[in-house]
Amino acid sequence: MRQMKIAVLVGSLRKESLNLKMAKNLIKIAPDAIKLEIVEIGQLPLYNADLDSNPPFEWVDFRQCISSYDGVLFVTPEYNRSVPGCLKNAVDIGSRPYKENVWNGKPAAVLSASPGAMGGFGASHHLRQSLVFINMPTMQTPEAYIGKVHELFDENGDLNNEKTIQFVRNFTQAFADWTIKMQPDNRDSNRLEG
Ligand code: FNR
Repeated sequence: MRQMKIAVLVGSLRKESLNLKMAKNLIKIAPDAIKLEIVEIGQLPLYNADLDSNPPFEWVDFRQCISSYDGVLFVTPEYNRSVPGCLKNAVDIGSRPYKENVWNGKPAAVLSASPGAMGGFGASHHLRQSLVFINMPTMQTPEAYIGKVHELFDENGDLNNEKTIQFVRNFTQAFADWTIKMQPDNRDSNRLEG
């Protein structure tokens, strides 16, 4: 089985982002069955349907780039109990023009992280609502809402405790399994009998 390529979208643009640190740890810890790569979203002009007939090159590049991946992992903070604008913008750009939705059918997973105790639960579930509409089969469990995330890294940005490392290992392994199961060629064999 070939290695699955996974796009990692981080919902924070700041250099010292805790979610970016988490994404880099996910990249290191993920099993060999998947190769995780961060796809930048900060350069994307805001979605505007008036530009659909002559889209900015950043949109065109981004859509082509996402099309080349086997799955997508969203790693996001929560802004005002919802999805940060930069990430929602990326989702919207990929979803248009209508009927050319590049997310369509790609397996997804969501990990949210926050210094707060609730771990970005609201962002995760608002994002999941969009993932339903853009037709991304999204891994249900393990759910990943990482609270008090600012306490979880050492001075090099590596996860500093075995419990979180184990959680991330399980999460990425489950997503690798999910991605393989949801590839178009494998889906027929997933249908329930009867
Ligand atoms: C936040 N933050 C935040 N945290 C949270 O748990 N729930 C929330 O609703 C919000 N709302 C919110 C809005 C805005 C505009 C900002 C800038 C921040 C705090 C947020 O979790 C914290 O700044 C994180 O460190 C942001 O993630 P990164 O950038 O570290 O990945």
